[in-house]
Amino acid sequence: MIECGIVTGAAGFLGHIHSKSILDLYAGLVIVDINKKKLEILYKNLKINYPKKKILKFNLDITKEKKIIELEKKIRKKLFFVRVLINNAALDPKPNKNTKKSFNWDKELNVGLKASFLFIKHFSKQMIKKKDGCIINIASDLSIIAPTHTIYKNVFGNFKKPVTYSVIKHGLIGLTKYYAALYGEFNITCNAISPVGIYNNQDKLFLKRLSNLIPMKRLANKSDIKNIIDFLINKKQKFITGQNIAVDGGRTIV
Ligand SMILES: NC(=O)c1ccc[n+]([C@@H]2O[C@H](COP(=O)([O-])OP(=O)(O)OC[C@H]3O[C@@H](n4cnc5c(N)ncnc54)[C@H](O)[C@@H]3O)[C@@H](O)[C@H]2O)c1
Repeated sequence: MIECGIVTGAAGFLGHIHSKSILDLYAGLVIVDINKKKLEILYKNLKINYPKKKILKFNLDITKEKKIIELEKKIRKKLFFVRVLINNAALDPKPNKNTKKSFNWDKELNVGLKASFLFIKHFSKQMIKKKDGCIINIASDLSIIAPTHTIYKNVFGNFKKPVTYSVIKHGLIGLTKYYAALYGEFNITCNAISPVGIYNNQDKLFLKRLSNLIPMKRLANKSDIKNIIDFLINKKQKFITGQNIAVDGGRTIV
């Protein structure tokens, strides 16, 4: 059996980082994304940087349960054991001056919340059999606090962080605690991480406003996220479960 981790929404900004965390510690990786082009680029890049590792890629809409069932079967047939599941995919409308419709309730909840549940439902079966597993749900500081809409004002027109984002991220914490309690006896941990905004070439005024709200006076670096994922997916980490780990420079304590 090839021990591996699976990352949903792997082709996005943070998916790359989670993929590297898994390949640094495990023999295999499964990357899943609806964006075929970006997935291909990530796959090629990872193959170059980790030539000895087994990597599977699947171009898939994760809101379709049938597809997830097929995916789980295909991965099992290849003799991969998915020990780590990272529910990372999201439809996160980035602040944009031209955003007209601010959210789509069903679409966003289906990707951010329902698909996370479906991946746990189908990929936990093998984990339960093996009495070994690690589930991580990628939430946000907005799983703890409400958005501060004023940081976007006049930078991104009238942009407001959509209500769906708060609902999804708070919901993920419920999902995390539920499965941590249910699967504890099977030696499966289930945690959430809640990053504050991560540096990604954002507008200067926006960065200044957000940094001012953070006790450590900066946003997160990609390495801050990689460090916590490295820690959580390490097999030595056996006893922290059901937690929502804020990776936020103190943003949610003030
Ligand atoms: N970037 C940040 O600053 C930040 C901060 C806090 C939390 N987060 C959270 O981290 C996670 C990753 O964020 P990101 O910035 O990398 O986002 P991103 O938009 O760059 O990546 C999300 C990926 O999900 C994929 N996806 C969307 N719908 C899908 C579907 N139906 N099926 C399969 N794949 C689908 C997209 O194609 C994309 O590649 C999200 O859950 C986000 O809310 C991000």
